[in-house]
Amino acid sequence: MKKVAFAVVGVRNFAAEHIKQLSLLAEEGLGELKAVVITDMDKNKAKAQELADRGITIYQSYSELLEKGKGTIDVITLPTSIHTHYQMALDGMRAGYNLVLEKPPVPTVQQMDELIKVENETGVFCSIGFQQIHAQTIQRLKQMIVAGDFGEIKEIACRGYWSRNIAYYNRNPWAGKVVFAGQLVMDGPIHNALAHYLNNMIFLAGSEQHKSAELAWVRAELYRSRPFITSDDTSCLEAETTTGTKIYFYTTHSPRVELDPIIEIIGTKARATWDYSQRTHVQFTNGEELTFDNDGVDPWYEVMRTAAQLVRGELEQPYSTLENSRSFVVAINGAYDSAKVIRPIPEEYVDWISEGDDRRAVVRDIEDLFGEAFEKRVLLSDLNKVPWAAATPKVSVRDYKEFNPFGVQEVIL
Ligand SMILES: NC(=O)c1ccc[n+]([C@@H]2O[C@H](COP(=O)([O-])OP(=O)(O)OC[C@H]3O[C@@H](n4cnc5c(N)ncnc54)[C@H](OP(=O)(O)O)[C@@H]3O)[C@@H](O)[C@H]2O)c1
Repeated sequence: MKKVAFAVVGVRNFAAEHIKQLSLLAEEGLGELKAVVITDMDKNKAKAQELADRGITIYQSYSELLEKGKGTIDVITLPTSIHTHYQMALDGMRAGYNLVLEKPPVPTVQQMDELIKVENETGVFCSIGFQQIHAQTIQRLKQMIVAGDFGEIKEIACRGYWSRNIAYYNRNPWAGKVVFAGQLVMDGPIHNALAHYLNNMIFLAGSEQHKSAELAWVRAELYRSRPFITSDDTSCLEAETTTGTKIYFYTTHSPRVELDPIIEIIGTKARATWDYSQRTHVQFTNGEELTFDNDGVDPWYEVMRTAAQLVRGELEQPYSTLENSRSFVVAINGAYDSAKVIRPIPEEYVDWISEGDDRRAVVRDIEDLFGEAFEKRVLLSDLNKVPWAAATPKVSVRDYKEFNPFGVQEVIL
């Protein structure tokens, strides 16, 4: 069977990761990188030369790829900036291409619904780069949940603290922005770097193998410790699904001590912990225990492998789809509706450590604060421990169809 032909839009930052994974796919004989889009040839001269030497076609714009790739390119991957996702996905599907669209899929639920409609109309697939949904551990946990092994799922909670330095915020002009180039980005830990873990929880709470849960309401507190960003860097969120599972999420880019994401799943018949290393431990109420991991399967690679398998007719549907990412987008939109503002944390509660490109903000005691909130399953303001935390309302997201960004104030309080 022929190798599936891929094109990647971009070559820098996460686009480089797509190119790397596609080289591994070529080694397995399933697919190959045939083309890339490089818009800035000066900035990317060396990379362009290296790819051209490998026989890879370089297009200078996305529209050129859409026009000239017809008949040769099977899948286009879009590891591009968040604010470009909607239009590029729309244009790509309408031009007849299958897509791998990076997470977070799109900023608003109305954009998501339009993409779902276009995917159905065109018959192509749009797989989402939420690689953890491709993880064997997450799929196995979901199988167990759907089979009833956990009983009724009461709660799923996650905390994860990943520090981000100045270089992270300087890597592109949209990092840390709510709006960039007139488009919503909402680039904070819940919508970007740690988005996977919120999406994992909503996916695990769904009652069918490939479906995510629908949400009933969301409450969120969004804070920023950096004066030079407009989006959040320290956030917590709670939500309830329409079937009564509570979801809790605590995350920051400003910890003193990092913590890779850990998810706890609490059911009436079992409880489990899943961590970033993919170690999964299940304790059943009858005393039995089960531990498993990913068996060496790399979820990042699976994103590309499943796309190739879909084209080859070896798989029926993507693992991570527009449809099963929709509730994630609803959660983000609901979080903004609830928080309304990104609250600045006063500078006397923020320390700055390290120098130069590695300089980073630290919210004083955030690990203890989120640790306690996680244990008690409350939001930061409920602890009444820091004056900068402010209570926010629950907002209903049942039948949520439209996010109105004008309800959100990108202002400095
Ligand atoms: N799955 C994961 O774990 C993971 C990890 C990291 C990032 N991501 C996601 O990957 C995406 C990209 O993130 P990033 O931080 O790498 O973004 P970035 O710094 O903005 O880089 C995006 C790349 O896309 C190219 N690009 C953007 N718009 C383009 C256009 N209209 N035409 C052609 N090329 C275009 C850029 O080209 P230039 O070189 O010309 O600027 C650059 O190479 C985001 O959605 C992010 O959330 C996912």
